[in-house]
Amino acid sequence: MKDIYGRQINYLRLSVTELCNLRCRYCMPEDGICKKRHEEMLTEEEMVMAVEAAASLGISKLRITGGEPLVKKNILSICKNVSGVEGIREVCITTNGTLLPQLAKPLREAGIRRVNISLDTLDQSKYAYITRRDSLGRAIAGIESAVNAGFEQVKINSVLIGGFNDDEIVALAELTMKYPVDVRFIELMPMYDGGELGQRAMVNNQVVLERLPQLEKTDGDGGVAQLYRLPGAKGNIGLISPVSHLFCSECNRIRLTADGKLKPCLHSNTEYNIKGLGYEAMVEQFRKTITGKPARHDELSAKNSSGAGRNMNAIGG
Ligand code: 5AD
Ligand code: SF4
Repeated sequence: MKDIYGRQINYLRLSVTELCNLRCRYCMPEDGICKKRHEEMLTEEEMVMAVEAAASLGISKLRITGGEPLVKKNILSICKNVSGVEGIREVCITTNGTLLPQLAKPLREAGIRRVNISLDTLDQSKYAYITRRDSLGRAIAGIESAVNAGFEQVKINSVLIGGFNDDEIVALAELTMKYPVDVRFIELMPMYDGGELGQRAMVNNQVVLERLPQLEKTDGDGGVAQLYRLPGAKGNIGLISPVSHLFCSECNRIRLTADGKLKPCLHSNTEYNIKGLGYEAMVEQFRKTITGKPARHDELSAKNSSGAGRNMNAIGG
């Protein structure tokens, strides 16, 4: 279905939980989050019905997010059921990778086609600092499991944080020489409460091009990413620049939070509830969400943080 600005909205990001086994400083407070009541969260049946409602309006691509989707007990069953919904052509997942050693193969078998893994540093003590958990070894093992599980594509997402990992741009990019993966650098967005680093630490993605002058521009569908490649690499380098370049005019997505709120825009606090609704009422809320998509959100900057009204773990990264 098209929105009122002519954008074809065909992509739903479905967050299946707000919980996570890491505590990234730009995403969550140290003591986790105030756990919402079980009854407030979507059930598996509601998630599947929501995906059916979305598909009836032309959503064909689905990304499962969180929190950390792999901490959800019934994640394999959710993946299998949403993959089977008529009209859904592609189901992907975004994960921190730490549970992929045991789950990569079963996820592939449950119908997941591509995996994005979040990894901001290759240094064990920096990883422990930024995620507040000592799990770098498991995240790397997770990447290797994903590569071996036969997904159509594996991407690594690195959020660039000034003074923290901007000295690792070359090392992170070189993962594309070692593994058949894409590495994507993402500008840090100043989210709702900004975490500990939200406001000041954004690094403009131009810095990646300066550090890696050998990058060659590549064609291909990178979605919101501009694609480059290191000579001889097995995968692409993508630049995702939500702060320095707004991509609202190409935005094709809506989001559904784990507590059943449809969000027409990541950076707006407008939400449409679907928790507890039947199928027809859900379809109506999806229709409203798509027609209610704003033309664009305000610029993001150190002074102007996101109007999302929630932290990233409660939206779905
Ligand atoms: N800015 C940019 N990316 C973010 N993520 C979480 N919070 C932010 C933010 N403020 C990313 C994670 C992960 C994905 C789920 O969203 O690093 O790659
Ligand atoms: Fe967990 Fe992802 Fe948030 Fe890190 S960014 S705390 S891995 S949900």
